[in-house]
Amino acid sequence: MPVDPTADLLRWYDAHARTLPWRLPPNGQMTPDPYRVWLAEIMLQQTTVAAAGPYFMRFVSRWPTVDALAAADDGELMAAWAGLGYYARARNLLAAARAVVARGGFPQTEAGLLQLPGVGSYTAAAVAAIAFGEPAVVIDANVERVASRWFAVSEPLPASRSALKALLRPHVPGNRPGDFAQAMMDLGATLCTPRNPACPDCPLAPHCAALALGKATAFPVKPAKKARPLKQGIAWWIEQGGAVALVRRPPKGMLGGMLALPGTEWVAEPTDPDPPFPARWMTVATPVSHGFTHFELHLHLRTARLDSRPALPLLAQAHWVQRSALDSIGLPTLYKKAVAAVLASDAQPCFEAA
Ligand code: ADE
Repeated sequence: MPVDPTADLLRWYDAHARTLPWRLPPNGQMTPDPYRVWLAEIMLQQTTVAAAGPYFMRFVSRWPTVDALAAADDGELMAAWAGLGYYARARNLLAAARAVVARGGFPQTEAGLLQLPGVGSYTAAAVAAIAFGEPAVVIDANVERVASRWFAVSEPLPASRSALKALLRPHVPGNRPGDFAQAMMDLGATLCTPRNPACPDCPLAPHCAALALGKATAFPVKPAKKARPLKQGIAWWIEQGGAVALVRRPPKGMLGGMLALPGTEWVAEPTDPDPPFPARWMTVATPVSHGFTHFELHLHLRTARLDSRPALPLLAQAHWVQRSALDSIGLPTLYKKAVAAVLASDAQPCFEAA
């Protein structure tokens, strides 16, 4: 029975490690240059490996050492960073390079690295492990996925992050922590991918609890969607001569500036107001449900057919649109649903025959 996942992982890494500009070959005797490791990890914080590569090459060619970078002209450095985004990273990069030079070299521990501008817990752990051989646990998004599957962690991310760290810690080898971290990253990037993991090729397959359950892709467990609060409102379908009154919503706020049925505010605790004017009002039995980003709306529909157009402030700016034109005038989805609901509803018979 296989019992040593770390050995299996490192054996795979020795054969399959990606060749990346900031990387030494696995299991080598050379010591990585902390400057290159740190620079790469800063670039990789919010940038893909493919996009960061050419920037990394330009940077180390223009500024081959941390001393050179510390002496860089701010404007030149910002210009060299252009296109990578998240420009606070570039400002922090300079500040950190100057701090490193001022203190006579890179801090060699995770805790020390954390003191540098722009270095958070991920980067500190990565640099400590890769450049200084500290057995730090390095968790980025790829590693989170690999570890969530390896240990079939049922708690969703990001809450599970500290549990993942604790589960990984005993597997980090004292002699090759940097290779272990990068092997986990490469596994996540190449085999243990989000949707179609290549489990038959995976060195951790014999150890993988999610695979044993037959459901690798069920991990990481997705957090339950937060129930959106419910708001309710009433919309009035006012029809005269085969045309329906539409109003333009106020420019600011939900569906700002869009055509809509006239109606009430949308509120969490609705009261049923009097209709806007006396008529033979009917109710569409089922309200229209519509999901907005931050709330769910139930729009209750009331319909009335009139013999003449009422002179009411509510309808002063109304656009009277023929029923047959309602699906082609660019109503937002909510009101398209409302139109469909009215036309399909039992409230319909009160309208004149088509
Ligand atoms: N992503 C972040 N750091 C990385 C590294 N050192 N190797 C590959 N992918 C990475």
